[in-house]
Amino acid sequence: MEHLQTQGISLPRLGLGTFRMQGDVCRAAVESALALGYRHIDTAEMYGNEDSIGAAIANARVARKDLHVTTKVWNENLAPDAMRRAFDTSLKKLRLDQVDLYLVHWPAPGMNLPSMFETLMKLKQEGRTRAIGVANFNIALLKTVLEEIKAPIACNQVEYHVMLDQTPLRKYMAAKSLPLVAYCPLAQGRAASNETLAAIGRKHGATAAQVALKWLLDQDGVVAIPKATRSESQKSNLDALNVGLDDEDLKAIAGLPKDQRFVKPRFSPVWD
Ligand SMILES: NC(=O)c1ccc[n+]([C@@H]2O[C@H](COP(=O)([O-])OP(=O)(O)OC[C@H]3O[C@@H](n4cnc5c(N)ncnc54)[C@H](OP(=O)(O)O)[C@@H]3O)[C@@H](O)[C@H]2O)c1
Repeated sequence: MEHLQTQGISLPRLGLGTFRMQGDVCRAAVESALALGYRHIDTAEMYGNEDSIGAAIANARVARKDLHVTTKVWNENLAPDAMRRAFDTSLKKLRLDQVDLYLVHWPAPGMNLPSMFETLMKLKQEGRTRAIGVANFNIALLKTVLEEIKAPIACNQVEYHVMLDQTPLRKYMAAKSLPLVAYCPLAQGRAASNETLAAIGRKHGATAAQVALKWLLDQDGVVAIPKATRSESQKSNLDALNVGLDDEDLKAIAGLPKDQRFVKPRFSPVWD
């Protein structure tokens, strides 16, 4: 598995998303993914599954140093005390002494960015998270974080897939060497039944979903975290790394509609 180096952590370029997976289903899915070779698990306090993921990790024979775990603080918990409480709860549920990456899940109206990052930096300095980052931040917010606060964020996690153009954000992030973690990399599953992608896949003995994932993974600085409950899908998504796309494929993918955003901003700002 290829890794991306960012702010002192080594991020596997394909991870397992876990939104809308809970209880025993989540535990079984994470156990299956770890057995297949996944070493990057993406969760959040809001997903209500950190305890299931903690149980799966505790049960797996994977050295902690080989595993990357990201979790996120919900936007109601961005004040210093609330963030500390949320962080402690996440760590306890995950049964870990340290997470690898702690993200602000969504920007919130009235948030105090300098104070948020001061708290995040303290968690990092205390060694309780190895790195910090953000999700759903637009260019204006990233500018404040990177150019004014100068916080050492390791990524911005945003929606990105074959049906959504992210060129301006990608350009800004590339200029700042900030990795993009692509959520909804399969357009919430829609990519798997897209006829253009299926036709490309047929050429290469691959599925439409694999084509969608490889398109992302062929881009510098991009990590993808598809959610898959079934072992067959998890394996197939891992195998996407072996698919080769040619110029004709890229042209066909470029011709897909690129305005399909499936996750609406929950709070203020925001997409430019
Ligand atoms: N930071 C944020 O605000 C944010 C927002 C949204 C998502 N995320 C993260 O990103 C992850 C991925 O996004 P997502 O879960 O919304 O959407 P997604 O990964 O684009 O799509 C997931 C859907 O695709 C299906 N699928 C997976 N592999 C497949 C395959 N090989 N063939 C056919 N279908 C396949 C899954 O099936 P099953 O239902 O059978 O599993 C599920 O229905 C989330 O789980 C979460 O960790 C973060």
